[in-house]
Amino acid sequence: MNIHAPVPVGVLGASGYVGQELLRLLAHHPGAAIVFATAESAAGEVIEGHRLGRADDAPLHAAEIVLSALPHGVSGRYVHDARAAGKRAVDLSADFRLSPEAVYGLTEVTRPRVAAAELVANPGCYPTAALLALIPLAQQGLIDASREVVIDAASGVTGAGRAPRRELLFGEVTEDFRAYAVGNEHRHLAELRATLAREGGFSGDLVFTPHLLPVKRGILETIHVPLTRVLDQATAEGLYQAAYHGEPCVVLTRGTLPSLKDVVYRNRVAIGVVPVANVRRPRLTVIAAIDNLVKGAAGQAIQNMNVMLGLPETAGLAC
Ligand SMILES: NC(=O)c1ccc[n+]([C@@H]2O[C@H](COP(=O)([O-])OP(=O)(O)OC[C@H]3O[C@@H](n4cnc5c(N)ncnc54)[C@H](OP(=O)(O)O)[C@@H]3O)[C@@H](O)[C@H]2O)c1
Repeated sequence: MNIHAPVPVGVLGASGYVGQELLRLLAHHPGAAIVFATAESAAGEVIEGHRLGRADDAPLHAAEIVLSALPHGVSGRYVHDARAAGKRAVDLSADFRLSPEAVYGLTEVTRPRVAAAELVANPGCYPTAALLALIPLAQQGLIDASREVVIDAASGVTGAGRAPRRELLFGEVTEDFRAYAVGNEHRHLAELRATLAREGGFSGDLVFTPHLLPVKRGILETIHVPLTRVLDQATAEGLYQAAYHGEPCVVLTRGTLPSLKDVVYRNRVAIGVVPVANVRRPRLTVIAAIDNLVKGAAGQAIQNMNVMLGLPETAGLAC
């Protein structure tokens, strides 16, 4: 292959919120060109200059790599078709995140495995922020497994996808704020537990409560971490600095804490830490923020694609 020719990329589910973000980011990618983009109800529409075909008719032969932003439960079949056609793939749905068939694509943590992978399972949006916040502590044995790690997370409404639902109407969500999947039942928990055990060696309890925030995009997580020993501010910050030294898509805030404006439209996670005062046992509060559609989905998928193809990791991305 001519190393200067753009890599042909196919996008499945291009009319969804994540798929549209993939098209928007790939339009400015210096080393990739979209060769097909699919939709279901929106087939025939034009987005970012691409007429959307149907997934069943996707010309898989034309792509070198396929990015799937199809719903979970639907994506797996089409990704298998792409693999059967000899194509590498990044699946943005949940279909392969717990499967030995795929490499889990939390880029900063699994980069060497992503580079060699034929199929990458892109992490969920909530897990991306939580895992990047927790893995450095877990790897150092600093999380007390006899107590629960509590993750309170809030996401903008694009996190729920573009298919119309009454509870997501403007009139239902605006000027409101509510928890959902309360009781530790969210499907991201299995992914969180499995990855924290595999990559961080931590298998204690997690309590995860998502909230619906009436903004378009962005996730902010407040993570309450029980520690095995006291960490002062400088030590805690130094630990994250060491873990993410040289990482282009991780921003560690000092003297301030992350908020959504630090991350929206960027392929970055922003992390800030504060030791908790006035408690008897040591505890750290970690605040992590991402754009659910970028570092939480399309941006990280392109970051993984770049790693798989040997392109500069942040090509086409603003971190
Ligand atoms: N939204 C997020 O923040 C986020 C973050 C991380 C991961 N994800 C994952 O990424 C994937 C896409 O999420 P999304 O929020 O973009 O969802 P979405 O807005 O609902 O988009 C889904 C896409 O799949 C297409 N589609 C739906 N059913 C189909 C079928 N039976 N056959 C072929 N195509 C079909 C849709 O086409 P039409 O619209 O034309 O019908 C649309 O292009 C999901 O698996 C989701 O879990 C989402």
